[in-house]
Amino acid sequence: MAEPSLALVGAGKMGAALLGGWLVAGVAPNSISVHEPHPSDDVEKLAAELGLALNPPPRPADTVVLAIKPQMLETAAPGLAPLFRPDSLLISILAGKTVANLSQRLPARAIVRAMPNTPAAIGRGITGAFANDCVTAAQRDTAHRLLSGVGAVEWVGPEQAIDAVTAVSGSGPAYVFHLVEAMAQAGAALGLPSDLAMRLARATVEGSGELLHRSPEISAETLRKNVTSPGGTTQAALDVLMASDGLSELMARATAAAARRAGELSG
Ligand SMILES: NC(=O)c1ccc[n+]([C@@H]2O[C@H](COP(=O)([O-])OP(=O)(O)OC[C@H]3O[C@@H](n4cnc5c(N)ncnc54)[C@H](OP(=O)(O)O)[C@@H]3O)[C@@H](O)[C@H]2O)c1
Repeated sequence: MAEPSLALVGAGKMGAALLGGWLVAGVAPNSISVHEPHPSDDVEKLAAELGLALNPPPRPADTVVLAIKPQMLETAAPGLAPLFRPDSLLISILAGKTVANLSQRLPARAIVRAMPNTPAAIGRGITGAFANDCVTAAQRDTAHRLLSGVGAVEWVGPEQAIDAVTAVSGSGPAYVFHLVEAMAQAGAALGLPSDLAMRLARATVEGSGELLHRSPEISAETLRKNVTSPGGTTQAALDVLMASDGLSELMARATAAAARRAGELSG
């Protein structure tokens, strides 16, 4: 039996990461069509070597994965209509485009709205996903399998929860990169050469992330407590970070701002 057909629309950074993940996960290349006006050399090479259909005439697909820029939706939509049958599944990763926005522009009924994050590029992303009522259990499984190609998948509801997902994990990598900047600046202020301070900060975040990754059964709280001796140096810093106006309060304000902005952009 032929594999269900899969159309990828937009093979930029995130679309190409998804495509790579599907191929590694064993999705049959000849079931995939890629629709991308300016394919990268890598995507062209994959198409030539594995027999992916690159920019074939659009035909209805079982699943359509939309990975163009949100601002391109209006212009692209009319050309995408032939990719859909009434029972096709649409998986959209477009930031800020709601199920209502998507169903106004595309002839899709079953819609999964997903928010990945940039570590998807190395297969270590996490995606929050919402399925509307028209998505069948089998289509949800399909979406889970396809989104898992770039990392973990968490299902959320109601749809508005995607704004909170955006605020925590979608935008989250930037917070972690900023943490590295802040630690490096602080190290320089304590007298370290700034390039050394940056190496120390960067390696600390890399290594701590890897420790978290390799210890899924240990909570972040326990990992923190394991490196905090009562009355010691780490405790002195944490007393500042964990004060009532410390990092938790700042993170609550930062993520609230991101969630509010996500809501405004989808409005
Ligand atoms: N990157 C992230 O971390 C991230 C996280 C969550 C969600 N997202 C979402 O992922 C989507 C893609 O982001 P990205 O960073 O991968 O953007 P990107 O690198 O610009 O990729 C978008 C691709 O779509 C192509 N495209 C434009 N119009 C098209 C059309 N009509 N048909 C087919 N392809 C078309 C673009 O081609 P041209 O360059 O020729 O226009 C481009 O190659 C966005 O909606 C974004 O909100 C991204």
